[in-house]
Amino acid sequence: MTGARPPAGAIVHAVGLTKTHRGDRAPVHAVRGVDLTVREGEFVAVTGPSGAGKSTLLHLVGGLERLDAGSLWIGGERVDGHGEARWAVLRRRGVGIVFQFFNLVSHLTVADNVELPALLAGATPRAARASRAELLAELGLRGRENALPGALSGGEQQRVALARALVNRPALLLADEPAGSLDSKGTRDVLRLLARFHARGQTILMVTHDARMASAADRVISFFDGRIADDATLGDPAATRPGVTGVLDLED
Ligand SMILES: Nc1ncnc2c1ncn2[C@@H]1O[C@H](COP(=O)(O)OP(=O)(O)O)[C@@H](O)[C@H]1O
Ligand SMILES: [Mg+2]
Repeated sequence: MTGARPPAGAIVHAVGLTKTHRGDRAPVHAVRGVDLTVREGEFVAVTGPSGAGKSTLLHLVGGLERLDAGSLWIGGERVDGHGEARWAVLRRRGVGIVFQFFNLVSHLTVADNVELPALLAGATPRAARASRAELLAELGLRGRENALPGALSGGEQQRVALARALVNRPALLLADEPAGSLDSKGTRDVLRLLARFHARGQTILMVTHDARMASAADRVISFFDGRIADDATLGDPAATRPGVTGVLDLED
């Protein structure tokens, strides 16, 4: 298979990404030949209506679904030929994912949910504990270590999911409607935390149908009917996005 090599500094490089869902019904062309490059340190939002193919695109980039055609590099590594085992390693070390419904392990404590991926990636128990403690403190969850996920609010569960996704310091954070099931305070918290991690250099690719969420990113891709309809890199946030500054400044 051929495909343009990724440019220097590209965390995600996709050429002709294609996915058709085939079930009992008519095939659904969810992603139709998408070219996408996300550079190190970018915060990119993919927005568009329900059914546009946003989640499918994110799943392809995270290896949760296999592409039908196209080429994909993550961190300069060609990954479209990877099998499940190699994807699992990549997701453990290089790509963190958060979902709308958190997907925490319900019978594990908050602490264990966050430490588990670190241990699976080969961290010592002591290092896993240290990373977990640092992240939970950062995310305002100190004191919740021994709680089970079901005892937490949605916003708290999503912050635990963020800690779990970030514990191995992945080069790329993928987020699919990360505030989709949260109230307005939870939404603000998630936006603020994503903005903070981005400010420290975290590369983020976030899917959302919510324009307000999308405008927290520094580049907004409009996705429609399986294709990129628009791709806008925004300038100085303070100069061009007063509305967003307002969102992030709202205090709890
Ligand atoms: N596993 C699947 N099987 C069949 N169709 C699917 C599957 N996943 C998604 N689709 C369809 O693909 C299209 C794109 O879905 P999705 O990527 O979830 O869009 P979005 O996240 O933008 O709402 C929709 O028409 C959806 O119904
Ligand atoms: Mg979706």
